[in-house]
Amino acid sequence: MQLLSLLVHGSLLFTRPNLAQESSCSAFDVREASIDTIHDALYGGLTTCRGLTEKFIARIQAYNPLINAIITLNRDALSIADTLDLALAAGNATGSLFCIPILVKDNYDTTDMKTTGGCLDLADSQPTHDAPVVVALKRAGAIILGKTNLHELALEGLSVSSLGGQTINPYDLSRTPGGSSGGTGAAIAASFAVFGTGTDTVNSLRSPASANSLFSMRPTRGLISRSGIIPISYTQDAIGPITRNVNDLAIALNVMASIGYDPNDNVTALLPPSSVGADYSTVGVVGSLRSVRLGLIETFFNRTDSEETSPVIAAVNAAVSSLTAAGATIVPISSSVYNSSAILEAYDTQKYEFRQEMNEYLARSSLHGEHPPSLDDLYKSKRFLVIPAQYSYVNTALLSSTDNATYATRKLGIQNLILALQTTFKEHSLDALIYPEQANLVVKIGAASQSGRNGILAAVTGFPVVTVPAGFSPATAEAPVGVPIGMEILGLPWNEAKLLSIAKTVSEVRRVRKMPVLTQEPVHASSMEEVPVIIPNTKNMPISYPAGIL
Ligand SMILES: *[C@@H]1O[C@H](CO)[C@@H](O)[C@H](O)[C@H]1NC(C)=O
Ligand SMILES: *[C@@H]1O[C@H](CO)[C@@H](O)[C@H](O)[C@H]1NC(C)=O
Ligand SMILES: *[C@@H]1O[C@H](CO)[C@@H](O)[C@H](O)[C@H]1NC(C)=O
Ligand SMILES: *[C@@H]1O[C@H](CO)[C@@H](O)[C@H](O)[C@H]1NC(C)=O
Ligand SMILES: *[C@@H]1O[C@H](CO)[C@@H](O)[C@H](O)[C@H]1NC(C)=O
Repeated sequence: MQLLSLLVHGSLLFTRPNLAQESSCSAFDVREASIDTIHDALYGGLTTCRGLTEKFIARIQAYNPLINAIITLNRDALSIADTLDLALAAGNATGSLFCIPILVKDNYDTTDMKTTGGCLDLADSQPTHDAPVVVALKRAGAIILGKTNLHELALEGLSVSSLGGQTINPYDLSRTPGGSSGGTGAAIAASFAVFGTGTDTVNSLRSPASANSLFSMRPTRGLISRSGIIPISYTQDAIGPITRNVNDLAIALNVMASIGYDPNDNVTALLPPSSVGADYSTVGVVGSLRSVRLGLIETFFNRTDSEETSPVIAAVNAAVSSLTAAGATIVPISSSVYNSSAILEAYDTQKYEFRQEMNEYLARSSLHGEHPPSLDDLYKSKRFLVIPAQYSYVNTALLSSTDNATYATRKLGIQNLILALQTTFKEHSLDALIYPEQANLVVKIGAASQSGRNGILAAVTGFPVVTVPAGFSPATAEAPVGVPIGMEILGLPWNEAKLLSIAKTVSEVRRVRKMPVLTQEPVHASSMEEVPVIIPNTKNMPISYPAGIL
């Protein structure tokens, strides 16, 4: 508790970055940098790939002690940058992500770094193959700077883990960054890299985007192969990018979706011809939303007036007003089908699928390094953080399987929900549904669980969602620009391009994103001999978890 209050009240653990003047030859400012601004600077000779990489690493060195978003840095990042500088000099710069520094959630298999899921018992787990999506990112020229913290094994939304400690929201040090991809959310908000990746089983790409004023894409089930990612649920798992703008989201999606059909993840067989090799990066500004019809899910708000809920209503109302001003037609949807807690209770499949999926992941012969051979062993090791709200979930998962009769009932229920959703679209001729990702502000550090989130609708149905910044709560002493609030835009399957173009217009007609004040000072990067070692702060656990669990 004492450590928490030090963190929350800031200054003691916050070492001020070196703000010395930067030399003019490296004047490029990496804060809020996009793929395009980096390529312009790089190809225009304003910076080198190594210079860029050093600048992002310097930001991580300066600010990670404040937000604790990183589990590990890539020892090879600077030598990869040097190789890319040579390629550039030889006129060989190719790839849509050429020299784009990125961060990857630490549940993506990487051969050059351990893949831990934030779990102490997986601290030495070493994949010998990159996940196909990691291969695609590297092939496109991206430099993976490191791996980000997450909620332990992506099982909740507080972003606290036994190996990575508690990640902190850069907009408000008293709050969580959402989750489970909260390390990526906090890191990208603080400009530790150009973009990052996440995974999403219920809310996990959308909650961190919402809580950090970022964009994310949860793709249609089957668009991006999930093989080589620490799994939870065959039905609900999805992976995607988290970015600071819509263009980067589209470019990152292009690369991640370029894998196409992958026999190791059979849901990719669902990919329709129209989505094979689709180019999402060409989405322009629609300019007007005159022909666009958006259903606003009224039941996804919490109308109890409070400091945690009213700012969400205000922000989404403001977003809706700008959409209306841009010509969109808003259709209120208030069917009782759209009740997030009821959907979660009735249809969530995680506890039936988790053990089987995880056992397969852990038993692969390509997984080297010391690691438990099964979920049971992992759990028995006690080197695994379960927050109190998860005890019954994990205990049930250890006994359940897809053979349980109730699993089949749930899968059938999901088919009905998909039909209900398709019917809502047809009945009102909708292009998309909109609603707040979270009906209240992202919870404070030390809360028992994340609350009020609406991610389950897309998670069980597999419909795609773009999350966009909708606004901020009023500024307070703890949150100098307010707490970010995000909105989900959910579309029909394989409608990623349409969602991106709606999101692009939304982001043009209403510029919401702001840098977090607490990490906004530029950081001077002196030339680096080697990539520094980052040690996550595990002494900052928000509450003392009962003995024997960790
Ligand atoms: C540039 O590309 C050519 C042709 O692929 C290759 O032979 C050469 O080694 C490359 N040079 C660098 C520095 O990457
Ligand atoms: C698809 O993959 C899942 C998980 O590996 C497996 O349980 C299922 O039987 C497969 N289905 C088909 C039709 O191959
Ligand atoms: C709605 O918000 C109020 C005030 O923050 C809170 O007490 C209540 O638990 C919330 N209701 C739901 C269903 O989350
Ligand atoms: C939503 O579902 C929950 C859980 O089943 C239930 O307690 C609640 O009353 C429902 N809310 C509405 C508005 O129907
Ligand atoms: C699945 O069946 C097992 C064995 O009967 C039982 O212990 C477990 O609680 C069931 N799981 C669920 C989620 O119903």
